[in-house]
Amino acid sequence: MVNIRIPKSWEIDPRAVTPEAIFFSRRRFLHSAIASGLGAALLAGCQNQSQEQSQLTAKTLPLDAKRSNAFASVDYPITDESLATKYNNFYEFGGTKSIWQQAQALPTDNWKVEIGGLVKNPRTYDIDDLRQKFPIEERVYRFRCVEAWAMVVPWVGFPMHLLIKDVEPTSAAKFVRFTSFYDQKITPGPGFWADSYPWPYTEGLRIEEMANELAFFAVGMYGKTLPPQNGAPIRMVIPWKYGFKGAKSIVKIEFLAQQPATFWNTLIPNEYDFEANVNPSKPHPRWSQAVERVVGNGPSINWTTQPTLLYNGYEEYVAALYKT
Ligand code: MTE
Repeated sequence: MVNIRIPKSWEIDPRAVTPEAIFFSRRRFLHSAIASGLGAALLAGCQNQSQEQSQLTAKTLPLDAKRSNAFASVDYPITDESLATKYNNFYEFGGTKSIWQQAQALPTDNWKVEIGGLVKNPRTYDIDDLRQKFPIEERVYRFRCVEAWAMVVPWVGFPMHLLIKDVEPTSAAKFVRFTSFYDQKITPGPGFWADSYPWPYTEGLRIEEMANELAFFAVGMYGKTLPPQNGAPIRMVIPWKYGFKGAKSIVKIEFLAQQPATFWNTLIPNEYDFEANVNPSKPHPRWSQAVERVVGNGPSINWTTQPTLLYNGYEEYVAALYKT
């Protein structure tokens, strides 16, 4: 394991360090709060908050990765880690945004990813081998869900084109299918309807989309390995497409001649098309996509709204893929 760093007992995540000015203004505030008898309640509240944060990322380990210069920031702040790890979609564990506790049941030990189909070098990777083989970096990407909420996430991982080069698809390969972990005993699905869903969760890309510089396999976020609720130990991140294209907890990758059936597109084809590029002028049948609600800057969901950008702001990287 090259990149995973076992933290010393005295270490804290540098991202958790409070900037000096905030530290001192909090101290002044705490001083007068304690004097006025509010102190005990306030301290208990802070303790609860940090206890919850450590539960949210209890199964993660620090991951050493340099931030990429090309994807160092976007024009709005990185979403608070406590929101990105607590407000999720992972239908294998339930149909609400609050599945992070249920998702802790995901068994991530001895994880393997099988790569096959129309390739010259089919192989099954152990997750540690994948992390070793491909140099990992941190990229700050916009993240836009089809439900019109948005975040900014610092992912850690490697571009998908490195894997394409490694397995060498044959000239017959035109599409790629990605399959998520599924085991009915562990992933109960979203209640009553779960049996009618086309499990396992699958997603697909055209091979040229997968080869684009932006297409990314994340093995971590916020400087740590991925927590289960965000798709441990490896997931797709395709920042110019709606979030549902980013399948979590990948166990299989297949290179194919034909466009594969995918989870949401099979379930509700008129609402979730295969391409699913972020596009403000193409409304979802039930809501507009012209604006997005940004998950708040800070520990609470203080939505702010802003215009949606074509290809989620990544037009310069991907527009050429869609020229007819
Ligand atoms: N992958 C799997 N296996 N199962 C899912 O339910 N939900 C998708 C995507 N990948 C999903 C999935 C949707 S709809 C979104 S918006 C993103 O994951 C949410 O990612 P996040 O929880 O890390 O924000």
